Amino acid sequence: MRLRHFIDTQDFSKQELLEIINLIRVIKQGYKAGYSPKLLKDASLAMIFEEPSTRTRVSFEVAMTQLGGHALYLKPGEIHLGVRESIYDTVKVLSRMCDVIEARTLKHETVMELARHADVPVINGLTDYNHPTQVVCDVFTMIEHMPAGKNLEDLHVTFIGDATNVLSSLMLICTRMGMHFTHAAPKRYQPPADWISWAQANCAESGGSLTITDDPIAAVSSADYIYTDLWWWVGQEDEIPERRAAFMPRYQVNLDLFNKAPAHCQFMHCLPASRGVEATDEVMDHPRSIIFDQSENRLHTEKGLLVYFVYPRLHYATEETVALHKQQIDSALSRLIKMNT
Ligand code: CP
Repeated sequence: MRLRHFIDTQDFSKQELLEIINLIRVIKQGYKAGYSPKLLKDASLAMIFEEPSTRTRVSFEVAMTQLGGHALYLKPGEIHLGVRESIYDTVKVLSRMCDVIEARTLKHETVMELARHADVPVINGLTDYNHPTQVVCDVFTMIEHMPAGKNLEDLHVTFIGDATNVLSSLMLICTRMGMHFTHAAPKRYQPPADWISWAQANCAESGGSLTITDDPIAAVSSADYIYTDLWWWVGQEDEIPERRAAFMPRYQVNLDLFNKAPAHCQFMHCLPASRGVEATDEVMDHPRSIIFDQSENRLHTEKGLLVYFVYPRLHYATEETVALHKQQIDSALSRLIKMNT
């Protein structure tokens, strides 16, 4: 069976991403109607988290339960990964006991190394470079909230703020899907040249477009969705005064900026958020904010991704095989009972 990992949306064609999104859609619709097939019955997911998480951890764990499987939360200090045991040895052991591995790692290279050695699919749950599960969820959410009369290829997505791992992933998936992507940030917080060149290559193939600007008002003028993320993350505490000065108030998504976008524009945030910093409460809780639909969709997205990568690899016994092994186990159990009576 073909082994594929989900490390970067750039490893997948537009058609493959649409297949994943369709799977998410039909599984979600079935679930909402009360139909929740156990597509990953008895399967196990190893979840490695080198950083804290609410949405990614909960969505993967609940997804496995709803699909009839099981998830294990593994954190540094509780497993040997990379400390008392090489990544190679750990991943080989996990591959023998689990059907899939999800990993949130501090360094992108760590998840790449996991994938290089794994014999089961590895799903990237966020690194210092990207966050592919989040942005598949985001595109699915945008499609669910599509403005009337528009198609995917008509959508304008504007990201305001720092060039985070979410920005890199969102820029790459939107341009791959043929959408129109704008990033507004002060020049020193704009994406590096290689990210831009990959997104431009996506546009050349898909018909999408990419705009990088330091003008947030121009950036929102035709936005169907305004998206923002934290201005600083764990490990950047020393930079808070400098970052706050660079972004505030011009790049804050407040009512004033939101009202400069078209009247149908919707607000998105991957969360967690620093309310009152990158976005104000009025926008976070606005009737056109879809942030909690986005969060809920992480659950449906993880279900679609897990089924896409794991379901084709599962083997279930035929009736003949079940009969043979049931007879052998029953006879061993009878001997056990006899010995103990
Ligand atoms: N958006 C996201 O990945 O959230 P968590 O950090 O809570 O998983």
